[in-house]
Amino acid sequence: MCGIFGYCNFLKDKDRKEILEILCNGLARQEYRGYDSAGLGIDGDNPGEIVFFKEVGKVAGLRKRIAESNINTSKTFSSQVSIAHTRWATHGPPSTVNCHPIRSDPSNEFIIVHNGIVTNAAALRQVLQNRGYKFESETDTEAVAILTKYVYDSQPGKRITFPSLVKTVLKELEGSFAFVFKSIHYPNEIVTARRGSPLLIGVKTEKKLKVDFVDVEISGPDDGKAVDGFVPTAPNSRLAPPAPKISRRQSRNYMSEDGMPQPIEFFVASDASAIVEHTKRVLYLEDDDIAHISDGQLHIHRLRRNESGQAETPATRSIETLEIEIAAIMKGKFDHFMQKEIYEQPESVVNTMRGRVIFDDYRITLGGLRSYLPIIRRGRRIVFCACGTSYHSALATQAMFEELTEIPVSVELASDFLDRKTPIFRDDVCVFVSQSGETADTILALRYCLERGALCVGIVNTVGSTISRETHCGIHINAGPEVGVASTKAYTSQYVALVLMALQLSEDRISFTPRRRAIIDGLRELPVQIKKVLELDSTLREFANTLLANQRSLLLMGRGYQHATCLEGALKIKEIAYMHSEGILAGELKHGPLALIDENMPVIIVMTQDSLYPKVQSAFAQITARKAQPIVICNEGDDGIKKGVKTIRLPKTVDVLQGLLNIIPLQLLSYHLAVKNGFDVDCPRNLAKSVTTE
Ligand code: AGP
Repeated sequence: MCGIFGYCNFLKDKDRKEILEILCNGLARQEYRGYDSAGLGIDGDNPGEIVFFKEVGKVAGLRKRIAESNINTSKTFSSQVSIAHTRWATHGPPSTVNCHPIRSDPSNEFIIVHNGIVTNAAALRQVLQNRGYKFESETDTEAVAILTKYVYDSQPGKRITFPSLVKTVLKELEGSFAFVFKSIHYPNEIVTARRGSPLLIGVKTEKKLKVDFVDVEISGPDDGKAVDGFVPTAPNSRLAPPAPKISRRQSRNYMSEDGMPQPIEFFVASDASAIVEHTKRVLYLEDDDIAHISDGQLHIHRLRRNESGQAETPATRSIETLEIEIAAIMKGKFDHFMQKEIYEQPESVVNTMRGRVIFDDYRITLGGLRSYLPIIRRGRRIVFCACGTSYHSALATQAMFEELTEIPVSVELASDFLDRKTPIFRDDVCVFVSQSGETADTILALRYCLERGALCVGIVNTVGSTISRETHCGIHINAGPEVGVASTKAYTSQYVALVLMALQLSEDRISFTPRRRAIIDGLRELPVQIKKVLELDSTLREFANTLLANQRSLLLMGRGYQHATCLEGALKIKEIAYMHSEGILAGELKHGPLALIDENMPVIIVMTQDSLYPKVQSAFAQITARKAQPIVICNEGDDGIKKGVKTIRLPKTVDVLQGLLNIIPLQLLSYHLAVKNGFDVDCPRNLAKSVTTE
């Protein structure tokens, strides 16, 4: 998905070289989100001049273009604002003209970077074209840039403030987005706003800030209104002549404790990983927040007021401290982030359990759920809702939830859940699982369930994300930043978090005590067992480089708990090795997939020892009878497997946890298949880390 980065310095000398470096680094840190072009806009040498650099392809190419230009890099700015963007093409192919920042006109009166999609852009474009405005790109963003100029041009005396102008524009937009606006009419100011797409602002000062929050300013009744009836698709358009009445107060955190204005830097980004190398002090914007940075001050306005004239969200936005370390977003000794993240799993699962499991007492404490446990236990069903890997983690733990809670459980793909308009009731408990916490389908499903009065629980990795903020309660999985597009450590941590949740819910059931204890003992062993599985890395590389090297397809089979393992393994192989792969429930073999089997069809069968072992043995017999030569994922010491069969032998654990070990060889296999073929492991083609559009 696209990535936004904006940089503002005030009373702090920075030469252009440093500014360009900050912008390019900010983009590079967000590369993992997926993109196909990168660009930036900075102040030129003369007032009212903006210089662009744009490049199709990687940020490295953008850096090269800058290095090859003859721009004066030593020019120093004591205050300036600049914006940058990585674009993941939606409207129009990757090209320099479609690359952001997008301008309103050849004089660059307004320039914009944008994430998300403006769904009424075509209608806006039509109206603006009818009024004589010329478009140069195919982007939806350009309609917003030109609309901004149109609204500005319509102001008598052009005396509208920058945030009021943006507010007027935003009121005409439909869809989900995050924007940063820069303009030659408002030098050294930027306005940034979000609806449905994440944005945060880092604040860096030498002295301590006077307060740790920013007030949300409630504007006057006429603020943000302009010309009536401009946009035909918005009959209740609020465009009307402006009379800005913002109460301009001095931002309190602009001052240091001694009450003096101080040098300050602001970093606007879609992702904390782009900010953490500069500052850990960040403020997350809420939907419909409009942040205005000017003269070293940060003001936050709301797009709308509720009927009583009050903002619907809290009246302040607090400045929080990021808990991630810079090392967490560096590759270190590994070749790829995915490889690093696979290898981090012995620690990441511990971090998920840290402070939550007291092994000696067999006690689980999930602080984020504690006060909601009685409601969850009384729920008439639990509905899991997620996409991709996160969906698989819910599927992997469904049977355990049913067993331990005795509550009916369904697992829904968020997109399908919305398409079906699934009935949801007040006594339902809906659990939203998401690494990023920003997946559009999952967020929409969450809002659908909130509207229907269900209790909404979030299982999320990214602190401060939309899902973590909008759910009633939940668990942060604490896996640490996951950069590789292919989700690995987040899967195992989501799985562990869900196991903890089921264990906590069942703690009042004495009859389950032996079962709970066995699972908790299994959790204790997990890190050591994962390390053992990782020792198989070279065997898996060997399989990837020989047996599976030139194959076009790979079937993964298993049943019970291992069905999710097969689906997840197949997803990994598809997404980074670009190889067709299918996870098959072994019980379904005879109902169709068996027809695919012959001596040429590569198969991996998951045959670890649980109560379904005999049934999987029968599936094994059925496929080998048809000359398949499957690789078998089985437990160490399993003598039931004939000599000559290729095996991947793993430590044995309790049935509900075995999937946590079984997935790791499949993660490694997909990784080696991708490396062997020279594919971009961390940023596979056509995919994005965070899928913020439907
Ligand atoms: C996993 O490897 C994928 N890249 C993808 O399926 C991902 O899990 C899915 O898009 C959901 O993302 P989320 O967990 O951030 O909501």
